[in-house]
Amino acid sequence: MVIIWILLLSLLQEPWFPGRAAGVPEAAGASPSHPRPRRDAGGRGGVYEHLGGAPRRRKLYCATKYHLQIHPNGKINGTLEKNSVFSILEITAVDVGIVAIKGLFSGRYLAMNKRGRLYASENYNAECEFVERIHELGYNTYASRLYRTVPNRAGTKRKASAERLWYVSINGKGRPRRGFKTRRTQISSLFLPRVLDNKDHEMVRLFHTNVKYRESLLKPPSKNQRRRRGR
Ligand SMILES: *[C@@H]1O[C@H](CO)[C@@H](O)[C@H](O)[C@H]1NC(C)=O
Repeated sequence: MVIIWILLLSLLQEPWFPGRAAGVPEAAGASPSHPRPRRDAGGRGGVYEHLGGAPRRRKLYCATKYHLQIHPNGKINGTLEKNSVFSILEITAVDVGIVAIKGLFSGRYLAMNKRGRLYASENYNAECEFVERIHELGYNTYASRLYRTVPNRAGTKRKASAERLWYVSINGKGRPRRGFKTRRTQISSLFLPRVLDNKDHEMVRLFHTNVKYRESLLKPPSKNQRRRRGR
């Protein structure tokens, strides 16, 4: 038994990619979107992949029955649809227990601003980093790494309050909750990472191979654009 553990531990310590040591996060501001390819993460919806590994392609299914969506227009919300292009995500470990979550189709990152609002960021920055934790029944929570409610100092008149994390959360109407209103125990803060099904894979394939399909998704022609083209 002991020998097996030692073997396992030594296997885990073996660097998968000599070019980038585990434990070294990417430089701040660098995009984690093009890490080196590596073996597929299998069906694991789990966490704590080796740093610098390929992004996990997942959908995040909230316990409120909505799939998290990252839209090209900067909006974050949920959909009840089983297969929605904007719910296909790439989750990359950028530090131990810290992930970046990118919409595969929108190319934008899930982010939380200092007011606790979720938005889809065009660029990768510190607001795009989330603490990923496993909870019961395979659900994960994602809390802003940057912003949280800081505890009241003792000595003030108000009762001392505990520090609270601000979670990614999709309410029962498919809308994001403001971070400071969220709790770890609310079902709106619980997300099940799901692997893609056949239909999702087909959408991804089309997205990569079919320019018209891609354009139709990302640039729904607005009235202005149509008018411009008509001239
Ligand atoms: C989510 O946002 C998209 C893009 O703004 C919008 O078209 C869609 O209606 C929204 N869905 C919900 C459930 O609010």
